[in-house]
Amino acid sequence: MSELTTFTEGEFYEGHFDSRAYVKNFYSCPRGHSDEKDFLTFVLKCLSRVFSAGEHKGKLLIDVGSGPSIHSVISACDHYEEIVLSDFANDNRREIEKWLNNLEGSLDWKPILQHVCELEGKSPSDLEATLKQRVKKVLKCDVRLENPFSPHTLEPADCVTTSLCLEAACKDIQTYCHALHGLTKLLRPGGLLVMIGVLGESFYKVDDQRFSCLRLSQDNIEEVLRGLGLSILEFNLLPAENRKDNTVSDFEAVFHLVARKPSE
Ligand SMILES: C[S@@+](CC[C@H](N)C(=O)[O-])C[C@H]1O[C@@H](n2cnc3c(N)ncnc32)[C@H](O)[C@@H]1O
Repeated sequence: MSELTTFTEGEFYEGHFDSRAYVKNFYSCPRGHSDEKDFLTFVLKCLSRVFSAGEHKGKLLIDVGSGPSIHSVISACDHYEEIVLSDFANDNRREIEKWLNNLEGSLDWKPILQHVCELEGKSPSDLEATLKQRVKKVLKCDVRLENPFSPHTLEPADCVTTSLCLEAACKDIQTYCHALHGLTKLLRPGGLLVMIGVLGESFYKVDDQRFSCLRLSQDNIEEVLRGLGLSILEFNLLPAENRKDNTVSDFEAVFHLVARKPSE
């Protein structure tokens, strides 16, 4: 492993991001990575709180930069008829496809599904079946493009979710702003943006491989969202505990936000 001299953009993920190690290290159980304390339980609880009541629902939900993971859409899947997952890296999309098609050696999301079902009083096998039935596509995306799904044009979404992608994909605040603009354009008027991210993080590691992260503050993010005309409905933070003991990242806080695109 060498120190990073340049920001690890999407192209670096092809060939360097070990999808299976990522899930094993960060998502093999609801507690997540032991160095990240309550990070994952906080994220799952926030997503459950937003979606489980069924107040937010619709036809299409697009998750941008899913990685090899499906955790960001578990709580939403009962409430959106069609779900599109996406990522820049081929291996990540392939792992999701393997899971959707129940192929041998596919990733095991049962412990995470079980945890969400305990929060929501649901049956894990039913929820897994619903999720697999509702994910209609797993597409290549690049958040640096004006249309992240170019050359395809997706129909306007009722909800866009994204977790830990933009700060990993965008080397500076201008690119981040541009990427959030692209995500906003995927939404119908009045549509909902649900974002999970980290504040103050400069790197994270998957085994020995280090990846860059754009250091963000709550003010940075709120300013970008307001500049794009979105209203922020909630912004929840969990500050990192024992930051100096964290060997896999240096995040200061994990955040979860919900914002709405104005109705026309
Ligand atoms: C830290 S992972 C997050 C994965 C998952 N959403 C999660 O919450 O665990 C960052 C993801 O961003 C993806 N990524 C990096 N650059 C990208 C780009 N330009 N466009 C879309 N995705 C990108 C990577 O392939 C990787 O899957």
